[in-house]
Amino acid sequence: MGLPLRIRTEVADCAPDEADALGWGAFEGLRTARSGLELDTAWCEQRRFKAKPGETLVGSGPRGRVDIVLGLGDPSGLDNTRLRQAGAGFARSTGEAKAVVLDLTGISSLGVAPDQAAQAVVEGFWGARYRYTRYHAGDPDPLESVTIVVATEELSAAGRGLERGRVIADATFLARDLSNDPAGALTPARLAEVATEVAERGGLQAEILDEEAIVAARLGGLLGVAAGSAQPPRLIKLVYEPADEHALKREDGSVPTVALVGKGITFDSGGLTLKSFDSMLTMKTDMSGAADVIATLGACRALGVRVRVVGFAPTTENMPGGRAVKPGDVLEIRNGKTIEVLNTDCEGRLVLADGLSLAAEEHPDAIIDLATLTGACVVALGPKIAGLMGNDDRLIAAVQAASVRAGEPTWPLPLPQAYRSAIDSEVADMKNHSKRGGGALTAGLLLEEFVDDRPWVHLDIAGPSRSDDDSGDVRKGSTGFGVRTLLELLSTYEPLGSPAAGAAGGKVVP
Ligand code: BES
Ligand code: MN
Ligand code: ZN
Repeated sequence: MGLPLRIRTEVADCAPDEADALGWGAFEGLRTARSGLELDTAWCEQRRFKAKPGETLVGSGPRGRVDIVLGLGDPSGLDNTRLRQAGAGFARSTGEAKAVVLDLTGISSLGVAPDQAAQAVVEGFWGARYRYTRYHAGDPDPLESVTIVVATEELSAAGRGLERGRVIADATFLARDLSNDPAGALTPARLAEVATEVAERGGLQAEILDEEAIVAARLGGLLGVAAGSAQPPRLIKLVYEPADEHALKREDGSVPTVALVGKGITFDSGGLTLKSFDSMLTMKTDMSGAADVIATLGACRALGVRVRVVGFAPTTENMPGGRAVKPGDVLEIRNGKTIEVLNTDCEGRLVLADGLSLAAEEHPDAIIDLATLTGACVVALGPKIAGLMGNDDRLIAAVQAASVRAGEPTWPLPLPQAYRSAIDSEVADMKNHSKRGGGALTAGLLLEEFVDDRPWVHLDIAGPSRSDDDSGDVRKGSTGFGVRTLLELLSTYEPLGSPAAGAAGGKVVP
């Protein structure tokens, strides 16, 4: 259990006297967002405070209290994202304060439901407050309590949102910790142990396949990537079953299943196709997708998710040892398809092929995979936006909508059938590398071969899974990007309706 669940966090209908930091919102044009309180506009103007989203103005209040005005931007269209930014700005400004208070009184009159608002500010607050302390504790966080002030009639809704925000922040902390852990410490076997511990705490079933069981299960992609490493691979499977009385049931009484698959490369050296110094530096985070899946499943019970969730994380190192897979080798994946390995650095798709095959065998309603898959996706969308691909427009729309609400930007990329020939192989069903460009798309096209036509979405999180600096609700290092989107999607999941006709009755990209 991390800080978000350990620190006392509550809602109240008036600010406690002992507050030593107090924050409240203001809109552009210097209008206060806190009912009944005027803003000292001369003070704001003197400090050139414009109340832009995420901007903060720190001053001193009575009895040594730190007062913090939080910019909320344009008064029309206030949303979760701006409130999350305000929560993050607040977290960065409270200094040594022990009892911090954020005043959201009257938030409902600003067009945001109190539960949404409380959840968003708590997520933003903790996101910005996160630190990776396993090897270098530094000064402990002075924080003792967080209070969110709302109107009396907003208390119960805000209290629910605050609890959700804490659980989601705690899951994000877990994903960040795992992804920040050095590869020498977080081996595949250790990641599997952590997954087992998460399962115990979160009421999940866990099944871990060791090397022998992976051979028996014919996970040829995972075995191929693992061949060059001294660390044995693992296949992690976690299952969440909602309590029967609580579950979302279809007319026939069955409960929908969502399958999650996360890329779990605990270190990506590139294998024999060795990476350069620069590109290898951050490759301990190449298991961010697996971390997201484990952390998400761990939070399902606390959030009352109503669907069944099955998570798979194929995990291994990618190393150039004497037994390593060589360019030209052919691997047979779980579903029987074969892949010629031309570039051993295209290893993510090989382990995901097995993970997706296993996911499809569960006959899920939807499959979502998350992977730090391609540098090409970072070139296309930059460091803050994940690429989103898939074979089902309804699921693509649902995942993208969840990502917007969660404040984790994603953008659709096509899976053009015209590019499928780029991964044709002369000796196998496909090859793992193409030189023709569109690297994020050809990777997606390969993954599509393993989902057995189930509705599926692929999130390429190579960019946003880590950040080069502290900004908004992320800290330098791993971000846990994806956890909030998955938990938002699962918490609001609705079975996919009848297939929607594409735009103008056809696909934009054939
Ligand atoms: N793990 C990398 C992708 C990656 C790159 C993640 C940058 C995060 C930041 C993946 O396994 C990889 O090595 N991809 C190669 C593929 C290439 C050789 C076609 C890449 O994108 O460079
Ligand atoms: Mn690689
Ligand atoms: Zn990789």
